[in-house]
Amino acid sequence: MTDHEHEGGCCGGSCARSEGLVLVEVKEGVALVTLNRPDKLNALSAEMLGDLFVALADIDGDDEVAAIVITGSTNCKRPSFAAGADIAEMVEFSGLEMREHARLGQRTFAILESMSKPSIAAVNGFAFGGGCELAMACHVRFAAEGALLGQPEINLGIIPGFGGSQRLPRLVGQGRALEMLLSGDPVSATEAHRIGLVNKVFPTAELLPAAMEFAKKLAGKAPVARHAIVDAVLRGAEIGADKAQALEADLFGLVGSSDDVKEGMKAYLEKRAAHWTGR
Ligand code: COA
Repeated sequence: MTDHEHEGGCCGGSCARSEGLVLVEVKEGVALVTLNRPDKLNALSAEMLGDLFVALADIDGDDEVAAIVITGSTNCKRPSFAAGADIAEMVEFSGLEMREHARLGQRTFAILESMSKPSIAAVNGFAFGGGCELAMACHVRFAAEGALLGQPEINLGIIPGFGGSQRLPRLVGQGRALEMLLSGDPVSATEAHRIGLVNKVFPTAELLPAAMEFAKKLAGKAPVARHAIVDAVLRGAEIGADKAQALEADLFGLVGSSDDVKEGMKAYLEKRAAHWTGR
């Protein structure tokens, strides 16, 4: 039974499905996931990562949800998406426990990145360490004007453990990634936009509405093609150009065998909106 069913099902297309460190609310096909640990600027504890993993797995299996927005609680004393992994918790970890912690974060963010449902990070303040890594695991990043993003692990004598050393260079290039990783210095939302770390920047009040609106737009696109695009981009980036082209052709063929492809092209020719079935 999902959390959703636990709480008595959906209520008019908008329902809160869990409470605690990770809040999930579904509105018009979009799951709004809120990191909710305001007294610690939404720092990601192991418990919170576990809750996020469960919430994302639940969303993955929920046919009512077609897109995801992730943001930080607005109840923090200073605007925060997430101020990183929980340092107070990690200080007690052995090396082996640190490795397990890294694996938990990586598993959690991998489920998000590989999901067929597009995800948008609404970065509403500090996105440091694990917070920046979570934003980078989303498919699209929007940021508030005052947001700061960075990987300050080096200042603690550690390195990123939730995929940051791999996703950051893929997004901004090796030189800029090394500059950020080796200095630990954060970048402003404007700079993050300039280097390709975030897609768009909004005044704070407009951030969440813009992210929700964009998520709704993506939710309305052809599901089979949406999944194939994520697959082509992510898996293609890991292999050589020739193999990636072959992968694209295979996925093109796979999508071509779906009902949606006939519907999409027919709808275009008949000058009407397409009705996607996801088959
Ligand atoms: N882990 C654990 N607790 C954290 C945290 C983290 N990553 N980030 C913030 N907090 C806690 C603080 O310890 C503080 O708790 P307290 O009130 O019980 O003392 C609370 O959140 C508020 O943070 P505070 O430092 O008082 O706020 P600030 O406005 O002075 O500074 C930051 C904000 C984000 C600059 C600062 O909290 C910071 O540097 N955090 C760590 C960032 C980091 O290194 N992240 C990577 C971790 S791998």
